[in-house]
Amino acid sequence: MALTRSEWTAVLSLCLALLSTCLPVRSHLYNNRYAGDKVIRLIPKNNKETGALKDMCQQFKVDLWQPSSISFITEGAIADLHISGNSSQVLLAYLQQQSLQYKVLISNLQNMIENQIGDRSFRSRRSVSRYSYEVYHSLEEIQSWMYHMNETHSDLISMFSIGKSYEGRPLFVLKLGKRIRPYKRAVWIDCGMHAREWIGPAFCQWFVKEAIDTYQSDPAMKRILNQLYFYIMPVFNVDGYHFSWTNDRFWRKTRSKNSKFHCYGADANRNWKVKWCDEGASLHPCDDTYCGLFPESEPEVKAAAHFLRKHKKQIKAYLSFHAYAQMLLYPYSYKYAAIPNFDCVESAAYNAVIALQSAYGIRYKYGPASSTLYVSSGSSMDWAYKNGIPYAYAFELRDTGHFGFLLPESQIKPTCVETMLAVKNITMHILKKCH
Ligand SMILES: *[C@@H]1O[C@H](CO)[C@@H](O)[C@H](O)[C@H]1NC(C)=O
Ligand SMILES: *[C@@H]1O[C@H](CO)[C@@H](O)[C@H](O)[C@H]1NC(C)=O
Ligand SMILES: [Zn+2]
Repeated sequence: MALTRSEWTAVLSLCLALLSTCLPVRSHLYNNRYAGDKVIRLIPKNNKETGALKDMCQQFKVDLWQPSSISFITEGAIADLHISGNSSQVLLAYLQQQSLQYKVLISNLQNMIENQIGDRSFRSRRSVSRYSYEVYHSLEEIQSWMYHMNETHSDLISMFSIGKSYEGRPLFVLKLGKRIRPYKRAVWIDCGMHAREWIGPAFCQWFVKEAIDTYQSDPAMKRILNQLYFYIMPVFNVDGYHFSWTNDRFWRKTRSKNSKFHCYGADANRNWKVKWCDEGASLHPCDDTYCGLFPESEPEVKAAAHFLRKHKKQIKAYLSFHAYAQMLLYPYSYKYAAIPNFDCVESAAYNAVIALQSAYGIRYKYGPASSTLYVSSGSSMDWAYKNGIPYAYAFELRDTGHFGFLLPESQIKPTCVETMLAVKNITMHILKKCH
């Protein structure tokens, strides 16, 4: 019996339908590697507790969610630890024995991940024409979305690549703004420098959508897009972001290979040529804050630095989006000192956090990164500022640790709505002169 092509198609789709109903479709994400894992919070009360906590982190290779490195663990400050299911009994016993008090933030990490994004492959979220901005998207989806925006909004958007990642992926940037004249002042925005901070790329996409959707109806947006260009890099660390979808949800660094060690990647926010690899950065390739072999050793950093250097006369503001802490930070990161144009930068930050708070009452701390968060050298924000970009900021988006890097998709919209107010406010500020 010979089947026609359409009959074959019918038979095939019937088989597929049967398969998907009979087989267990719901396999565990990330190979169930987070089963039994917990996230706990500690606030060491004195020197002794701080020491005990640091020892434990070192000895058991704990995945630190907050702060970013063991050396930042201090008395009176929050430390969020992701501990594996295998070692959790031993660790919790150790804490009890040291009478260190802790609070369980997430009792079963695997469940948390699966409740949140577990059904992602079964949802119809791939279509770019009905693209949802309230779910997290894979790198492939984000890149298709970028192509789509470039094609369908050529009056306001163009798209180009500024180089290639370590694994050879294009580093796409969207240029957003009305092409009234070729030269206009510009704002740089990057998201996803740290792979696991998924709310960043979600915000970058939201920003583009919102700008396009409100250009005609919102006079402020019209003014902004008429007078400025935005260079928007929705996923800075493309290799790391991809890896955080496929292998390790809590991956932070790039994915470059180190010849001597078995550890991968460098911290893309410690790899810039500004007080490189000094305080707040690690020389050890296995650490999460590893500064890399030399400044701009990471191709992603090198490409962005090259682009920013080339356009530094044009670019008036540098905005980088991270998570989590709910903070708006400005230079310096690498030292405790006031920047020369402190008053202008500070008042823009002050207005921005008030604007942000007006949406849902979420309060952001703001101030110099060194004294507000911690000292870190080789950051992109300090580098941008040192290279002549007068307004340089880093946002640490929601939340303050309840969900941490696993911010639920239901919070994407409110987070983006409030952050949008802050970004618009800063942008309006730089359109005015500040003395
Ligand atoms: C963006 O769209 C234009 C046409 O409007 C096309 O010529 C260009 O190649 C596109 N850019 C990319 C990176 O696909
Ligand atoms: C910026 O925020 C401040 C404080 O909320 C507000 O007074 C000002 O109107 C805002 N400016 C714009 C342009 O949104
Ligand atoms: Zn970050």
